[in-house]
Amino acid sequence: MQQLKDNFNRKFEYLRLSITDECNFKCNYCLPDGYQRSHENQFLSHQEINHLVQAFVELGTKKVRITGGEPSLRKDFSDIIKSVASVEGIEKVATTTNGFRLQKDAQHWFDAGLDAINVSVDSLDAKTFYLITGKNIFQKVMDGVSACVTAGYKQVKINSVLLKGVNDKDLDLYIDWIKTQPIQLRFIELMQTGDNAEFFDKHHLSGLWIKEKLLAEGWTQKVPLSHDGPAQIFTHSEYQGEVGLIMPYSQDFCKSCNRLRVSSTGKLHLCLFGEKGVDLRDLLIDSSQKEALKARIILALEDKKESHYLQAGNTGITPHLASIGG
Ligand code: GTP
Ligand code: 5AD
Ligand code: SF4
Repeated sequence: MQQLKDNFNRKFEYLRLSITDECNFKCNYCLPDGYQRSHENQFLSHQEINHLVQAFVELGTKKVRITGGEPSLRKDFSDIIKSVASVEGIEKVATTTNGFRLQKDAQHWFDAGLDAINVSVDSLDAKTFYLITGKNIFQKVMDGVSACVTAGYKQVKINSVLLKGVNDKDLDLYIDWIKTQPIQLRFIELMQTGDNAEFFDKHHLSGLWIKEKLLAEGWTQKVPLSHDGPAQIFTHSEYQGEVGLIMPYSQDFCKSCNRLRVSSTGKLHLCLFGEKGVDLRDLLIDSSQKEALKARIILALEDKKESHYLQAGNTGITPHLASIGG
């Protein structure tokens, strides 16, 4: 078995596969004006996805996270889960969702083979949730989160982007919540993208204040495992849940990068904030192209940079994270 590695000795066992860039939310830091289609292409079919995943597995991929936009907007989402989960060698299929369909479909997706789910819940206050997402469905999303816990997912994670002056006041509420809930709560630093520079300047908060607060309140930072990726994880004996901090602006964030991305139209992206992407689609037509596809992926990886260089204001070609799946 081959193993994808880059020039900085990082191993890539994790593929983030976007299946649509469409979204039905209008998060103020991501798509404040809602989704606007920027290309004519159809999204990858589940057969194309299957060919792609087969090739990645032979290059050492063990985990696939299905992302969007909002992945559950695809009518064939359950078929895609099934198709990815059926590839021999895939050990974990995960998704990241805004929670809109969770209450109704968490159990179906679990039955289709989904192992883990990350849900964006940007506030624990219904009004603030609406203010951030443009959707007045806080309770529905929370009921969806409960449905995941009941369905028996191996892992349920909650994402929150803490924004200065908007939802930063919710921090204690979030931490109280996981006293009795077996979920991992992740606070993500707001990242600057091509479209949100002004918003970023106003609302970006460093995650370091959360880290200081956690350490002062008796939380302990876990020793990272090789497959953890860039998040820093904290535990506390009196809490059932954990806290994860995703701090792309902190030093060394990219040292533990373990993921590659493929966009919903079949472009390989070496970083969330990279250059235009390497088109793989012409090699996804049938399985006889697998060796050529693998060779193209290996060659592309030669160009992976050491860091995202966000500190220097380099947002690459990424207008918002919905465009390549966060
Ligand atoms: P798991 O470790 O599988 O749970 O994945 P994850 O934390 O990457 O998944 P999720 O889709 O929930 O992403 C959470 C946030 O982390 C999103 O805002 C992502 O854009 C961000 N993120 C994930 N990977 C990277 C990365 O490589 N670089 C940067 N800068 N941000 C990332
Ligand atoms: N900065 C940080 N996180 C973001 N997300 C989307 N846009 C940004 C951004 N600019 C997060 C969402 C979701 C995850 C997939 O990406 O909140 O949880
Ligand atoms: Fe949609 Fe996620 Fe972007 Fe919100 S952050 S608009 S849910 S893609």
